[in-house]
Amino acid sequence: MAVLDVLPYPNPFLRKRAGDVEDFDDRLRQIVADMEETMADEDGIGLAATQVGIDLRLLILSRYAFEGEAGKDKPNLVMINPEIVWESDETVVGEEGCLSFPGVFIQVERPQKVRIRARDADGETYEIEGEGLGARAILHEIDHLEGVVMIDHVSHLTRKRALKKHQRNQKALQARAREDARKSR
Ligand code: NI
Repeated sequence: MAVLDVLPYPNPFLRKRAGDVEDFDDRLRQIVADMEETMADEDGIGLAATQVGIDLRLLILSRYAFEGEAGKDKPNLVMINPEIVWESDETVVGEEGCLSFPGVFIQVERPQKVRIRARDADGETYEIEGEGLGARAILHEIDHLEGVVMIDHVSHLTRKRALKKHQRNQKALQARAREDARKSR
């Protein structure tokens, strides 16, 4: 297993529409395992394959998004070729973050409830409902498979502020990485 690099915005891969998964084989299961290790390492609750530079309609979600603390130690949800079957007209505004925008949090309006049809890593079709944070997490990750990121959902002004903060954070991360490299020489 390996921890993969999560691509930061504006990496062009984050604007790509991912291709369908066709082969449910060992390679796919290895990608899922690597993504799970990466998400745990980054302390995230969701990760889409496009965020680690893999052109497949595949995402993973922590059960924490659905069950809170009780879900923390349960196996992650694996969604392959997910489709939105239904979403509620009722929406809710809530805080959202993204591993491609580390340290940036914005308020995003999303449907309160969704129903999704997807396949698991063995190719079995299943349906699941998400509510509140669960719905938010699913929709955020499905967006990634369409090349859509969270700042696409907010006003021009909020987007500008979020991007400024993101650029500042990225500069600080790069400076820290340079410093670490210098020290280890
Ligand atoms: Ni994200």
